This record gives sequence, structure tokens and C-alpha cells, in this order.
Amino acid sequence: MLRPARFPAGFVWGAATSAYQVEGAWQEDGKGESIWDRFSHQPGNIVDGSTGDVACDQYHRYPEDIALLGELGLGAYRFSIAWSRVVPDSSRAVNPAGLDYYERLVDELQANGIEPYPTLFHWDLPGWVQDAGGWADRGVIGAFSAYSEAVVRRLGDRIRTWTVLNEPEVFVNQGHDIGDHAPGFRDPDLTLRTSHVVNLAHAEAVRAVRAAAPRAAIGSAFNMDVGYPASDDPRDIAAAERHHARVNAWFLDPLVHGRYPVAFVDQDAALARMDIRPGDMESMATSFDFIALNMYSRAIVEDDPTDRRFGLRRIEGPGRRNSFGWEIWPAAIHRLVKRVDHDYGRPILYITENGCADGTRPGADGQVHDTSRITYMADHLGQIARAIDEGCDVRGYFAWSLLDNFEWAAGYSQRFGIVWVDFDDGARRLVKDSGWWLRDLVAGARLDYDDALD
Ligand code: FCB
Repeated sequence: MLRPARFPAGFVWGAATSAYQVEGAWQEDGKGESIWDRFSHQPGNIVDGSTGDVACDQYHRYPEDIALLGELGLGAYRFSIAWSRVVPDSSRAVNPAGLDYYERLVDELQANGIEPYPTLFHWDLPGWVQDAGGWADRGVIGAFSAYSEAVVRRLGDRIRTWTVLNEPEVFVNQGHDIGDHAPGFRDPDLTLRTSHVVNLAHAEAVRAVRAAAPRAAIGSAFNMDVGYPASDDPRDIAAAERHHARVNAWFLDPLVHGRYPVAFVDQDAALARMDIRPGDMESMATSFDFIALNMYSRAIVEDDPTDRRFGLRRIEGPGRRNSFGWEIWPAAIHRLVKRVDHDYGRPILYITENGCADGTRPGADGQVHDTSRITYMADHLGQIARAIDEGCDVRGYFAWSLLDNFEWAAGYSQRFGIVWVDFDDGARRLVKDSGWWLRDLVAGARLDYDDALD
């Protein structure tokens, strides 16, 4: 049955970006090199051979972007802070000019009535931290919390909501196991150990932020995709649960439930390779004021005994695909929100990323008619409204992304923006139809959802 989507009063409407994907200015004002600077400069890593050296040039054009947020009626901006601007080298000295940039950004947002939602780490680890072992070495625990504290001390009086990490599962697994993201390792054991250090560093940083900003709300953004079992066979159902444990819960359960979820066929062997030391599980225990979810797609999962690690394989679903090839399945976001609501004690939730890769270019009339993105957002927002109607406490939605930007290993070949960026023409901006559509929705346009989708 179709029902009208209703979003509660005070619902936060925003758009998101991250530092390396939009800022450019990779060497300005004392910024140090990050692992993404290194990775993108190495031939062969980025499909179109591009880098984030200039990207959307937001470092210089942020007033224009903030004006765009205002035009679209969005009350919040999620951005990330580049650790390598703030602590550029191994002397660990804080670079005031790096913090000045974020202060200017926050000032400009607030002057325009837009709430800043900063994320402390969105993948661009400083090169000097990587040289000391990166996220695999326990030295990162102190380094990350010292950096977090420096940022919060400078900006904290004006920030009400801090997001600590963005998608630990992605930067750990793609950076250390699959190798298609910086730092580009392909080492399953290193990945296991790294995941554990990330969890320790995460909890320590949450404590540092809480101590420096006791009144702020603190959370992190987790990429999640729901595992749909390929059939009713209990083996497929168990495989989907392992997928959920591996992707969705591995970086959350140790912090909030004090244990690793069962993700491996031989869980004990995996845990034994993680260098878990006495006291680690205790020091990892922490709590979040909210859980932020980044969601794009789903996974259909089948039991596969030939996969010795996770015992599963993903199979193709029947849904439409975005230009990246990711299946579009809006009901999955309803399932996801319900599951997180249930498993984590009815937490406050934000959707901090959701969006659609769609390469539609400006047409003959000069406008970008990105209808597939509009359908995507309408369907997903509808399913979020459905979860809200069913009692889940979702407080906000951030479109990924405000701008077309540097999409990591895909370079500029995939566009997620609700605003077009012309990378051949001085990063000129042009609001797409999806941006105007979102503006109308925020202003109260009607949206219906189907309460029977599965
Ligand atoms: C997420 C990332 C974000 C962007 C989108 C498409 O995994 O957090 O930076 O690349 O995917």
C-alpha cells in the first residue's frame, strides 16, 4: 500500500562530501602528503589516471558551495577534515593554517545558517602515519586521538555533532586486503590485525572527543549493506549473517557490545591472528550518541564452502544498476534501519550517505536531467520514512554527494553529485535536476512510499 512519507520536525536535511574528494589544494598552507596523494600519484591505481590534486577546488570555492547548499534549502553539510592539513609531518606539530581553513569553512556555514557535521577521518591518512605502520600499528592510537583532540579544541565550541570515522570496513578491507584503495596492500593477515587496531584507536578517539567536547553528540559513519540470503536454506541464511557480521558489525559490535561478531568460518583461527592483547576488549568498550549509516546497495549472499575465510559468495540480484554496477534495492535501507534499530537498542540514527552514481551530462538545454538519481533518492527516502513510521529514530539524511567529485579508485569516472561539476571547465558548478528535486522535497513536496517492498 502507498503511504505518504513524513519526516519528523527538526529532521536534518543535508549533503555530504569528504576532504580528499573535493578540496584539492593538496600542498597548500603547509598541508602534508596523505596516503591518497601518494596512491593517486602512482600510475595504474586510478582508472582514469586522475588525482585529487585539484578535485572540486573546494578549498578555494567553499563560499560558492555553501551558497549552493543554501539555494537547495539544505540545513546541514557533512564534510571531513584532512588530518594531513592539521598534523602534516612526523614532528606531530599542529599546523595552525590547516585548522584555519576549517574554521573559515565552519564560520561561513554558520553565517549561512547551515549546521556543520564534520567527520574526523575519511580515509586520507597522513603519509607520516603510514610510514610508522599506519592503521596496523598501535602507534596510530595515540596519534589519532591527539589529532582529534587538536581539532575539537579549536572548533569544538561551534560543533554540536562529531563523526569520528568514516566507513572503517572500507578503508581497512579495500586498503589492506583488496588493495584497490590506499595504502594498497593485499594481505589478509595484516587486514585482520589492522581491523583490531582501528577498533582500539576508534574507541580511544571517541573518549578524546568526549573529553574535549562533553556536550557534543559523538558517533561514527558505518557503511552497511544488508545481506539477503539467496534462499531459505539455513546455510544461505547463515552465510548472510556472516556477511552482516563482516561488513556491518565488525567495527561496531566490539565497541558497543564488547565482542567480535562471528564473521569467519573458523572464527577462533581468525581471532588468534589478530594480536588481541589482555585488556584490549575492555579498552575498546565505548558508546555512541548516534550511529550514522552510509548505504548504497545490498548483497545477495549464498553459502560457498570454497571460500575458506567467510564461506560465502555474492550473487547478482535482479534490480536496476547504477553506473557503477551496484544493484539498486530501496527496500534494503528499510531492512537495514530496522535491523540496526533492533540490534543496538533503538539508537539515534542518521543516514550520512546515500546516493546514486549516474553520469548524465548537461543536455541541449544546458540542464542535467538525472532522472535515475531522482528515482533512487525518492525510493530510498520513502523507505526511510517507512522505518520512521514504524518507530525508528532516524534524525537526518545527507545526500552523497553535494558535488560530483574524485570517486577514489574510479577517479572522475563516476558521478554522485546532486550538483554537476565540470572538471574540464574550472570546476564550474551546475545544480542537477536531482538537486532541485531534493529542494522541493525539503520544502514539503509530497512523496509516497510502498509499505510492502521487501
Ligand atoms: C562511500 C564513501 C564515499 C563515496 C561513496 C560513493 O563508501 O564513504 O566517500 O566514495 O562511497
